[in-house]
Parts: sequence; structure tokens; C-alpha cells
Amino acid sequence: MGLNVNLAGLELSNPVIPASGTFGFGYEFAELYDINILGSIALKGTTLAPRFGNPTPRIAECTSGMINSVGLQNPGIDAVISEEIPKLARFYTKPVIANISGFSQDEYVTCCQKANAVKEIGAVELNISCPNVHNGGMSFGTSADCAFELTKAVKKVLSKPLFVKLSPNVTDIASIAKACEEAGADGISLINTLLGMRIDLKTRKPVIANKKGGFSGPAIFPVALRMVYEVYEAVKIPIIGMGGVTSARDVIEMMLAGANAVQVGAANLIDPYACRDIIYSLPEEMEKLGIKNITDIIGGAH
Ligand code: FUM
Repeated sequence: MGLNVNLAGLELSNPVIPASGTFGFGYEFAELYDINILGSIALKGTTLAPRFGNPTPRIAECTSGMINSVGLQNPGIDAVISEEIPKLARFYTKPVIANISGFSQDEYVTCCQKANAVKEIGAVELNISCPNVHNGGMSFGTSADCAFELTKAVKKVLSKPLFVKLSPNVTDIASIAKACEEAGADGISLINTLLGMRIDLKTRKPVIANKKGGFSGPAIFPVALRMVYEVYEAVKIPIIGMGGVTSARDVIEMMLAGANAVQVGAANLIDPYACRDIIYSLPEEMEKLGIKNITDIIGGAH
């Protein structure tokens, strides 16, 4: 049974990757199971300077999902490179995906330049879709022109594959994916979270201190699937599909829509073994569905 996939030159032993922001820097999970079974790991979103993140409460529960407004809490790119990645390298021997965010083009470029020099980093995921910060993140990902300019700028300093992570909070995600492809992106990651909110009935105020946040979890799976399907028809570069994936069957469905690999996000926050269990159950589900090689089904629904 063939589980290996290729992401713009990056060989993965299987298509399952924990999504950025739901798996720390990976080593935190190494005491639970051998994390080398993971196809790769998308590291916690990283910015140039360290960030404390947004005020609390940052989390709200929802039916079939959750809202977060973490605000890109992270120790900054230099500490990620000098401390977090070496800790992860003690347990994980495969290339990882650095998730890079910023508040200006220069910040994104500097972070990408630094990430490009790190041997453990196999690819960069450019996060232009974080809904929880002002003047950065999603503001680059909701305009095709901004996405084009930023992608072009970071491509100049990267020799490693560049995946641009897109926001679903747009009218036409395919046009933004196309702009990134035209600017030289090697692949597209989608989707980030949907902008949402909850109101506390007792206080009559928003639950989240920042009022709004990013909605994720199983409820968004059909939206993510539809967007992967649309982007597959618009671009030729590989797609990493994500959004509400909780099972091996969801992975297969995402790949039928057009994903070359699949990230698992909110499910890790409910069950730290989610990725492991999905990887273990993939061969059995493939056998039931008559799939020999997982790559055979990519885009099969079109
Ligand atoms: O708030 C956050 O740190 C979320 C980041 C993201 O959704 O990209």
C-alpha cells in the first residue's frame, strides 16, 4: 500500500501533517508516541520578534468546533531556530515546515531568509491568513495583489519550496491562489480559520477578549473541501488541504478534492493522538475503498 506523497520536491512517507498552531514545535508530543510516523510537522506560527499574543480569553467552544484568538504567540524566529528546532531534532528526523507570519513585507522576507538557512526546515508555509492580528496576517491574504507582491518578494530569498497559506474569508479564493502561483509559489495551503465570534449570554459581551477569532473544527470541513476543490481547478501547483479533518476518511476526501497532502488541526487539541490514529487507519480505509497508492486519488473527484 503506497502512502508516500511528494510536495513540490519534498518527499513525505504519508500525507498527514499536524497543522501549525495545534502541535507546538512538535517535541511536546514526542513523549506520547514516536512522532517520526508523521509525514511532516507544520511548526507553530513564527514572527520576526517574540510575541506574547492576544489578551485572554482566547478560546471559545462552539458546536462541532472552536474559536481561537491566540494572536501568534511565539518566541520569535531566532529563538525558534536556536532553541525550538534543535529540541525537535532530538526526536524528529524528517524535514519540517516553518509557518511564517509578519506585519510587513520586510518582516516576512527576513524571517524567510532565516528559515531558508536551517537544514531541518524542508519548506516554508507563508501565513497570509491569520485572522487574529491587525495590520498583518490576513490583510495580506485577502487581496490578490498583496498576495502576489508578498509571494514574489519572499520567493527571491527562498531556495526551499514555498507554500502560501490562504484565508477562507474571501469571495474568490481561487483568484488569490492563482495570484500566488503566478508570483512563483510552489504550492498552496488551505484553509486557515473562518472569522467567527460567540457572545456570553450572562455578560452579554463577546466571549473572546479580542471579540472575534478564527473558527476551526469538523464544522468547517465541507467549506475547506469546497475551497480545495475550487483551487485545484485554478492552479497546477500542489495543494495542502486542511480544515476540520478528523479521520482517515476525511484525508481521502480532501485528496479526492485535489489535495496532495492534508493537515490536521483542531483535532490535535481534542486528542493528541489524532494524527497518529489517522495514519494508522489510513491503510485499512484505503483497502476498503480499493485504493493502492494514495497519490492515485489526488483530484479524483474532478
Ligand atoms: O491567533 C493565531 O495565532 C492564529 C493564527 C492563524 O490562524 O494563522
